[in-house]
Amino acid sequence: MAERAGSTKTYESKLPSETERIAAALAQRLAVGDVVTVSGELGTGKTTFVRGACRALGVEGPVTSPTFTVGHRYRARDGDVSHLDLYRFRGLSAAEWGDLEPYFDGAIVFVEWPEAGEGALPEARFAVRIEHRGGDARIVSIADADPRVRHGD
Ligand SMILES: Nc1ncnc2c1ncn2[C@@H]1O[C@H](COP(=O)(O)OP(=O)(O)OP(=O)(O)O)[C@@H](O)[C@H]1O
Ligand SMILES: [Mg+2]
Repeated sequence: MAERAGSTKTYESKLPSETERIAAALAQRLAVGDVVTVSGELGTGKTTFVRGACRALGVEGPVTSPTFTVGHRYRARDGDVSHLDLYRFRGLSAAEWGDLEPYFDGAIVFVEWPEAGEGALPEARFAVRIEHRGGDARIVSIADADPRVRHGD
């Protein structure tokens, strides 16, 4: 994992389980108040990544993409984990942010399709990007923001 503020680490994944393992390693570094954006084209494995992190944090039960609601909130070992998907959003109105804000309260937050929330969401502690490399191969890069970017401590 990234050791230095502002650094980016890149990993190769050849299987969904490898993407989950990369996510599990990142999860060890997260605390309540941290926001993690997860970007990448359709079907790259964003939800798979979030699932791996959630498992490592002690979330039990299914971790699936929020479809009929903007987010899920899971109970984990040391607090809550929120999982947002902004795929359907084009920017965020004040009312929409009002719906999202509770998910950021007292939780680690993963945001799929974060682009719509740019400038409106709290700054991310880590920015994950997943890219297709043919077949099941993926490149997973994790950019480490300044460690001071931590909310709610
Ligand atoms: N190396 C890999 N890492 C992650 N997922 C992989 C990999 N290889 C194959 N897959 C498969 O790709 C699919 C990724 O689905 P997933 O829902 O995680 O993607 P997503 O990026 O969240 O999609 P969406 O854009 O619809 O939100 C799964 O079926 C998963 O099994
Ligand atoms: Mg998804």
